[in-house]
Amino acid sequence: MVGLRGLAGVTYPGRHYRPAGSAPSICSKLPNMSESKATGAPAGAAQKFRNSSLLDAAQGRMPARPPVWIMRQAGRYLADYRRVRSLFPNFLDFCRSPEHVAEVTVQPVDQIGVDAAILFSDILVLLPPMGLSVEFQEKKGPVVANPLRDDAVIAALPDGDLNSELGYVFEGIRLSKKALGDRVPLIGFAGGPFTVASYMVEGGSSKELARLKALMFSRPEVFTVLIGKLASVTSAYLREQVRHGADVITIMDSWAGYLGPEAYRALVFPHTRKIIATLKAEFPHVPVVHYANGAPHLLPHFTELGADVVGLDWRVNLGDALRAYPNQIFQGNLDPCALYASPQQIAAKVKAMKAEVGGRAHVYNLGHGILPDISPDHARAFVDSVHES
Ligand code: CP3
Repeated sequence: MVGLRGLAGVTYPGRHYRPAGSAPSICSKLPNMSESKATGAPAGAAQKFRNSSLLDAAQGRMPARPPVWIMRQAGRYLADYRRVRSLFPNFLDFCRSPEHVAEVTVQPVDQIGVDAAILFSDILVLLPPMGLSVEFQEKKGPVVANPLRDDAVIAALPDGDLNSELGYVFEGIRLSKKALGDRVPLIGFAGGPFTVASYMVEGGSSKELARLKALMFSRPEVFTVLIGKLASVTSAYLREQVRHGADVITIMDSWAGYLGPEAYRALVFPHTRKIIATLKAEFPHVPVVHYANGAPHLLPHFTELGADVVGLDWRVNLGDALRAYPNQIFQGNLDPCALYASPQQIAAKVKAMKAEVGGRAHVYNLGHGILPDISPDHARAFVDSVHES
């Protein structure tokens, strides 16, 4: 790891970092924290915002102005993100530096005008506490050095001591909340259990998820041990994010669409539903958004997960989804490539979306992450057109 101490604070090594006053493990016992350090409010309590449009829409109230945020909004399309990113040869070291995390988390609020910040981190930070070593390679994306290839290893997967191993995430939340003040809410997130399992078993990004699906179909009981373990660790992780200040939670099960409806319903759905139910039982006021990519065929199941908001990928016809589920709040779903079009064309697309949404509460977003070569002006055109009445 590079010596970044002094640039903007301290870079945490990712292991055994424990903020003063927190308890040793969140899986085994409750942390000794009764207040959010950022807001002074009781941990996990609802905060008032100057711009609460995302919280309003997510909870079914008509917001003063329609809310919009952008998946991967803290990312490479912003020059200021690239500047901070260039300080870290290693992506995970960047994620482990709370001051830099807070800096890039707030950038899109200041520069693009979105109605929420999303914590800068990654769904794969959960792997090291569970004993898997991951690194992000320039052209290849995430690579796991010791993917799960042995049933006995799956059976013995550790829960991980999240407070000590992911203390940098919680510190990033605290600093982001401090920087945001009462402007807009902060979205915390975790990967959905199927998507995180895919990286653990495949060892990286994969075309067919053949290894994971082979495990699922040939030894469903082992698959269930793995996904059950991930569900309990993810629940503990999200709980701790809320306790440290996250106002909204997003579960990104990006690759769930690789499954057919029967397999999804039988082997994944119960675990995601449990993660959401556990969170809602403790924090009923914290909206939960569920997102999966490439999964229009699973939409009926996503609407039954207990999430407040169902994220639509860009393959879904927004009007059809709204008509099919008159009581469901959706998020999405402009094609990320639509942002290559001119600002005028983007405005016309947003106008068409608004006509479909009509008088319903809706969370405007892209239908997947913003691409790295999109002009920030076009991202702003998207946000401004959502805000225009
Ligand atoms: O702005 C935000 O949305 C917050 C930050 C965020 C990142 N990743 C940062 C990141 C979030 C929410 C994620 C989620 C994530 N990570 C998902 C689910 C959402 C989705 O996109 O479907 C998945 C599948 C991952 C796993 C992952 N992380 C991959 C496959 C890659 C490599 C591909 C790529 O885009 O480069 C990453 C790396 C990553 N995570 C980057 C960023 C900004 C790019 C790395 C860099 O800046 O060098």
